[in-house]
Amino acid sequence: MGDGNGVSLLSQAPAYASECSHEYDGVLMPKIMPARCIESVRNFKVRDDDLFLTTYPKSGTTWVQQIVLLIHHDGDKSKLEGKHIFKMVPFIEAVEGMNKDNADTARMQSEIADEMPSPRILKTQLPPRWLPPSVYDGSKGKVIYIARNPKDMMVSYFHFCKMTVNLPTYESWDVFFEEFMADRVPRGSWFDSVLYWWKRKDDPLVLFIKFEDMKKDLKVAVKQISEFMGKSFSNETIEGIVESSTFDAMKKNKNSNPDSLPQLQANESQKKTFLRKGVVGDWMNFFSDEQNARFDAVYKEKMAGSGLDFVFLQE
Ligand code: A3P
Repeated sequence: MGDGNGVSLLSQAPAYASECSHEYDGVLMPKIMPARCIESVRNFKVRDDDLFLTTYPKSGTTWVQQIVLLIHHDGDKSKLEGKHIFKMVPFIEAVEGMNKDNADTARMQSEIADEMPSPRILKTQLPPRWLPPSVYDGSKGKVIYIARNPKDMMVSYFHFCKMTVNLPTYESWDVFFEEFMADRVPRGSWFDSVLYWWKRKDDPLVLFIKFEDMKKDLKVAVKQISEFMGKSFSNETIEGIVESSTFDAMKKNKNSNPDSLPQLQANESQKKTFLRKGVVGDWMNFFSDEQNARFDAVYKEKMAGSGLDFVFLQE
């Protein structure tokens, strides 16, 4: 029950949220991530050489997915041709095909992952406490966590919700903002996610990177990720990976741009693009002064003493 007082989150959320969401253990979740899939992740057989890409939604998951796949293939772009990057990395809490209308019966992506040869690259955006115990306690599996300043993440999430039939189409930014502040948007609390992984930032199995740092210097980020994956490349290879991972390059490449995927075909009047702006500071165009002050007060309280800070405007 959502608020701990016996009131469900779904009954408080806008009515249309129930068309595509369900409630699991106090968190609103998309129907394409049904209880059986979430539970399969808890029982997932983690291998020593697994690499998990972990984020709160809209924080740069796809960006890092592209980079990690290129690194995995030693910078050879041709290995990423002919197949979409979403199909190369199982999203372990989701059903195959990401279609909410057959989510009760579709194959689980965790099962697809079970059959993959090692080393595996896997994606998850689950609240940390629902992860496989060995990932949560740090005994097995490497994790790259990508964090993004929460204001830009929220704006990105608001737009993404309009794009996909798998998330509620909030009628306005103001409605989305209130739902977010009440911890009622799908996937739970951003603070819980980011603060848990920040605490583990010095764990040798964890690489904690920020979207804004990648924007500032993508080459440094690519080197850092390569090193974490145990690879050492020539300058030329690193530069090739950077070139194929810029916003423009990914947008132009049909195998890294998710727009063509069926789960992202919203009704035409809502048509948006996944690689929307890819910038730091777009929140300024959406947050009112009052919303900004309210968000800042919560942010200050929840982040106090963590030592984690974010860049909110392009430097
Ligand atoms: P915007 O909506 O602000 O443009 P995720 O993959 O976690 O869903 O995150 C999506 C966000 O990352 C979108 O943000 C998208 O544009 C941005 N993004 C994806 N690839 C990027 C890239 N190569 N450079 C900058 N931003 C990128």
